[in-house]
Amino acid sequence: MTIKNYHLTLRDVASHDAEYLETVFSLANGHFGVRANDPIMGNPITGTLINGFYETSPITYGEAGIGYAQHHQTILNLPDLRHLTILTEHGHRFTKSRRTTANLDLTSGLLTEKYTLETMQGESIYLGVQSVIGQGQQNFWAVSYTITPENYQGILVVSKSIAVPAEAEELKSADPRKSRIAGLPECESDFITQDLQRYHVKTRRTQESVTMYLGSLTPNCSLLRQPVDLSDGRPHVLEYEVYVGDVGEQNTIDPAATFLVNSWVGLQKDSRDFWDDVWDRSEVTVSGNDELNLAIYYNVFQLNQAAGRDGRTNIAAKGLSGSGYEGHYFWDTEMYMLPYFIYTNQPMARQLLFYRFQTLPQARMRARALGVDNGALFAWRTINGEEASPYFPAGTAQYHIDADIAYAVGRYYEITRDLDFIIQCGFEMVLETARFWENFGSWNQVDTTSRFEFHTVTGPDEYTALVNNNYYTNRLAKHNFNLVVSLAHEILADDPNGLEPFGLSEADLDVFSNLADHVYLPYSRELRINEQDDSFLNKPRWPLSKSTPENFPLLLHYHPLTIYRYQVSKQADTLLADYLFPEDLSLDQLKREYRYYEGVTTHDSSLSRSIFSILAARMDDPEKAYRYFMDTARMDLVNLQKNTADGLHLANLGGSWLALVAGFSGFYVQDEVVHFNNHLPQEISELTYRMKIAESVLEISLTATTTNVTVISGPIPTYGVSVNGEMISLVKVS
Ligand code: BGC
Repeated sequence: MTIKNYHLTLRDVASHDAEYLETVFSLANGHFGVRANDPIMGNPITGTLINGFYETSPITYGEAGIGYAQHHQTILNLPDLRHLTILTEHGHRFTKSRRTTANLDLTSGLLTEKYTLETMQGESIYLGVQSVIGQGQQNFWAVSYTITPENYQGILVVSKSIAVPAEAEELKSADPRKSRIAGLPECESDFITQDLQRYHVKTRRTQESVTMYLGSLTPNCSLLRQPVDLSDGRPHVLEYEVYVGDVGEQNTIDPAATFLVNSWVGLQKDSRDFWDDVWDRSEVTVSGNDELNLAIYYNVFQLNQAAGRDGRTNIAAKGLSGSGYEGHYFWDTEMYMLPYFIYTNQPMARQLLFYRFQTLPQARMRARALGVDNGALFAWRTINGEEASPYFPAGTAQYHIDADIAYAVGRYYEITRDLDFIIQCGFEMVLETARFWENFGSWNQVDTTSRFEFHTVTGPDEYTALVNNNYYTNRLAKHNFNLVVSLAHEILADDPNGLEPFGLSEADLDVFSNLADHVYLPYSRELRINEQDDSFLNKPRWPLSKSTPENFPLLLHYHPLTIYRYQVSKQADTLLADYLFPEDLSLDQLKREYRYYEGVTTHDSSLSRSIFSILAARMDDPEKAYRYFMDTARMDLVNLQKNTADGLHLANLGGSWLALVAGFSGFYVQDEVVHFNNHLPQEISELTYRMKIAESVLEISLTATTTNVTVISGPIPTYGVSVNGEMISLVKVS
């Protein structure tokens, strides 16, 4: 398979609003992200997001309650690094700008744009902008501006600096919407030399700081006043680089020396090397449909851009492409994005899990705040590990995040056998979450059956809140109990005293096994389907057929209590559990369940369609799977949810990869066997993709009649591989 040269251009994107384009063409590297603001007209004081760099402010409740989340955590929207000021020699400023081309090279990470600029007096020039973000050298971003005369051919004065927001003015504002801007950070800036600016930003409450340096890569170029003579009619190039320090890093770097090491060309190579490696491990080709192929490529690209790699940060719901959802991390990571990393880049997956591990102390405190004496409850939405959701019915009540994290640990271990990680971090997370469930749940005797139940919870479907026995939650909690037992046995097999540090005995394991056996899973005998919860099927159905498109998403048009009264789902809920545990139900039951829940689901959440696609593929309805998949694959490129301007839908990007891999190629792992089942829809003539599991890169290639799995590099794996129900021996292609 040859890696194609994929580019996203202006032509490929459906909506051309400025803010939408800023998101879609954003560059990021897990540490920070740069939105593709218009360099002349864009907002110079916002556009850069640093993963995990946030300010807090008190959450003000009209009616507060005990144990409510206390503080907002809001990612800081920092100054735009792309901004540039250009004046003619007569002091006329170029204030109008039109983006005429944009081209994001997905194989190298290079963003190339062209603008036409104009002054109020009608003088015009062309501005070419190329930018790249360091991927190995994650503190760097570089930009090259090419200025070419149009009708103006005189002298220009170019200035570039990192803008300091006008904080005093905004702090005094009486506008209540600006009250949160009280968190505006302290900013200081100075020019160390004429071609080097230092910019220091410090949060007021958390007292975290970051230092940035802006330097010129063009020799003898003044940042604040650089004359450019266009009279020769030739293009003039000015290159700059920005160093974005780590959060809390001491101000000890020598930026001048660092900048010398990093030339514009050097940073481009650094980026290309990174993307070569990514595509080598996770190339995806969908033959016969270039548009779709580009979309998938783009999604994988953005997933890699968004993911924090340092173990201190994670993947925000909008990645680093926008400040929507305040830069918070959700269950989205474990259930939708982590699978891509688990099956293509295990060290990254480990880092993402490690982030959660570090938040265990906060999770333990959260469990106590919720009146649960043992175990840990991870935050529903957070940056620093503390709960930041002010709306508990669709926030903290989504206790399932605990079992989601445990589930992800299990999946990671299954494929890596990384016992070291389990002993150091993973087991403690699984144990603490199991302990939470043990103490949170309660026994209920119904006739002769003892059931272990979970009350007043919210499942993934945020249109149904505070219910008893949400099927998804209960099924995942059951898995959490089973997982703690199976991982404990792995530890014991390695070291008979291995459980001592965890204060765990064999008798404790029996308790967990017993709980797993008794977790209640609601089932409707009448409909012969799993019930979303104890009351869901008894409610009146939301009149979906009578609702017009303007009524959606429901959450923007109806009081939550109105929505909660009805049988209506925002996203896959019970079906998500069915996807995760294929062994649980027959194909017939799956079909019944799918038909039922499809009829009551609005897909108002971007986390929904990918799951419907995967299950349709499993039910051998590839055409339906394809339809859902198309919406998933192109969601942000066509602005399907109409809010891409706030940032990309990262969970959906991960979901689109899952839809190809778990859906069309029927990939799953069970009992140390990797399974592939061909469910290719007729619209796709060939699907080829790669996975890296341990040291082996596998290539999986499907057509309507063939399913091939080969080893591209690394050793022949030790795990078994099954294709369409038959075990095969892998061969290595040279
Ligand atoms: C979804 C949640 C999701 C959150 C962040 C909400 O709309 O309902 O499941 O975690 O968005 O992506």
